[in-house]
Amino acid sequence: MTDHILIERPEAHPGVQIIRFNRSDKKNAITRAMYSVMTEALTAADGNPAIRATAFLGAEGCFSAGNDLGDFLAVAMGGGMPREVVDFLYALVRSAKPIVSGVDGLAIGIGTTMHLHCDLTVASARSQFRTPFVDLALVPEAASSLLAPRIMGAQRAFAMLAAGEPFSGGEARDAGLVFKVVEPHQVEAATLGLAAKLAAKPPEALRLSRDLIRGDREEIIARIDEEARHFATRLQSAEARAAFEAFMRR
Ligand code: COA
Repeated sequence: MTDHILIERPEAHPGVQIIRFNRSDKKNAITRAMYSVMTEALTAADGNPAIRATAFLGAEGCFSAGNDLGDFLAVAMGGGMPREVVDFLYALVRSAKPIVSGVDGLAIGIGTTMHLHCDLTVASARSQFRTPFVDLALVPEAASSLLAPRIMGAQRAFAMLAAGEPFSGGEARDAGLVFKVVEPHQVEAATLGLAAKLAAKPPEALRLSRDLIRGDREEIIARIDEEARHFATRLQSAEARAAFEAFMRR
């Protein structure tokens, strides 16, 4: 267990579950234990009729700096590919209930790609969405190589996923990754407001509509697996190890 992820059920927003990153001293970098807690919460929501929507939130100024690079270094030094990451991605894809997210500030790596699986994302203009996969000698994950070109178009997907170009909140909205841009202090309220609206809708009609809109999940799962195979090989590469060690030494 870890208290680096907080699971909340706010009284003011009936039917909403919050999954909140709570590791601000490490910029909400996500450890294996944190993935496990998030997977459990998503799975529990699916089995609990009282939960009708999930909202991901970070802290003011920082959503998440992505996967914990210490964990990646451990893999690069000979550990196995973290199963917890893949299980979390499966849970995101297979979730039967709507997922919204709210971003203020940094959203790096999976802190960006996870929004491709969210139904609605709110962000502040000052947010920075960035995926430095290639700079870390890695490849895109979370089926982003499939979903980002579809959502953003090939050029913007390449700029983000391969060139590592940062996108502001406004640029992410123009690219279709973000639904709405609000002031930083409004991110949480706007996100929870959207989640509460979804939670109040007829659940079966919403589930069917969402399934139709999100499309073939097995295709997405297959891409997650394909990326994960490359990712696991890349993690063991000398160039990836050098990149993680350089970060840890700073
Ligand atoms: N994994 C592990 N620790 C991380 C981390 C990550 N992904 N991102 C930040 N941290 C830690 C730092 O090591 C530092 O810890 P310390 O105080 O014990 O030294 C702390 O969080 C604060 O980070 P710092 O780098 O000092 O803050 P900053 O404001 O100067 O920069 C970032 C913030 C996010 C830009 C920078 O930390 C960064 O580039 N992180 C790596 C992001 C990344 O590559 N993620 C993986 C993508 S696949």
